Amino acid sequence: MNVNCHISGLGVSVPDKILTNQDLEKIMDTSDEWIVTRTGIKTRHIVKDNENISDYAFLAAVKAIEEAQISFSEITHVLVATCTPETLSPSVACVLAEKLALSAYSGLQLISSHNPGLVCLDFNAACSGFVYGLELARAFLALNPHATILLVAAECLSRKMNYQDRSTSILFGDAAGACIISAKGNALFRLLDVSVGADGDYKDLIRIGGGTDKKVQVGDTISEDFFLTMQGREVFKYAVRGMAQESLKLLHKNALQAEDIDLFIAHQANLRIIDAVRERLQLPQEKVFTNLDKYGNTSAASIVLAMAEAREQGILKKGQKIVLTAFGAGLTWGSALLAS
Ligand code: COA
Repeated sequence: MNVNCHISGLGVSVPDKILTNQDLEKIMDTSDEWIVTRTGIKTRHIVKDNENISDYAFLAAVKAIEEAQISFSEITHVLVATCTPETLSPSVACVLAEKLALSAYSGLQLISSHNPGLVCLDFNAACSGFVYGLELARAFLALNPHATILLVAAECLSRKMNYQDRSTSILFGDAAGACIISAKGNALFRLLDVSVGADGDYKDLIRIGGGTDKKVQVGDTISEDFFLTMQGREVFKYAVRGMAQESLKLLHKNALQAEDIDLFIAHQANLRIIDAVRERLQLPQEKVFTNLDKYGNTSAASIVLAMAEAREQGILKKGQKIVLTAFGAGLTWGSALLAS
């Protein structure tokens, strides 16, 4: 699909509250040594009791909007990748649109009168959400080349952690990231291509309950399946295979070799997974950016969080070819090719 797709602003926001491996040692039978060796994770940021993920989505969105030098009234689409929305309805996208409109217009008027035809949509591709979002943005731009899309990836995994399940709850953290995508604009990145996939046969490998699958009544106690449950070892295998194959497929489609890539940013799930993917692509260590030691697995937000930090550290810079790759519940996966 030949669509001009420019990313012109990027912003991230993470909660201040930090949950360290040492904190986890106090509430479950685990150790810093086990967690670091098996995953590479040292800390994760989690929301406070009085916070919601839309608060962080808002802060990330404001940074992206400011960097893109646009106003909220120019936005035509608010797309939010999340598998942990604060409510099943309204969508985080609508909550976010209201927060942005209130800050833009001092709460005096309804947003619909400012952004006629505004599209607000949450979508769930789990940890592949940001890459799926790039695919969605590209499709919306093909429908309307004048669209200005706010793509947000925001997750509050900490509220879906069963801290009695040591093999899963050590992995995840909360974060939000946002970017502005349009066909014009002063691009930080150009989306050259994106490719996504899914296979529902493996739907039970990672699951987050708490939907409408069970009849519940006021006063019922929460059961384990309200939380995120995962068959970690199986997921590990498919994650390596999925991210490596999709990235190679995308490179091949664009007549590129792995050595043509300047920077590789994979979903920040586990350092050992990223390392296994890196080996399959035969990429040198210095071309692979990771920051999961600080944030853990922030699901859909992880790639945009890594992009922002790589840029801040001068690792992601102008003139590069970048491959993003993700994998998540569903199972879903996807890879994207960007030029900076
Ligand atoms: N602390 C200490 N021991 C732990 C532990 C913890 N937090 N979690 C599990 N263990 C124990 C297990 O009970 C098991 O003990 P046993 O051998 O006595 O039965 C042992 O460690 C090995 O468990 P296993 O599950 O085989 O470990 P692993 O090497 O596969 O690592 C994961 C577990 C979850 C870290 C790993 O499988 C993984 O990262 N999978 C991918 C998950 C993921 O990234 N999901 C998101 C994709 S988007």
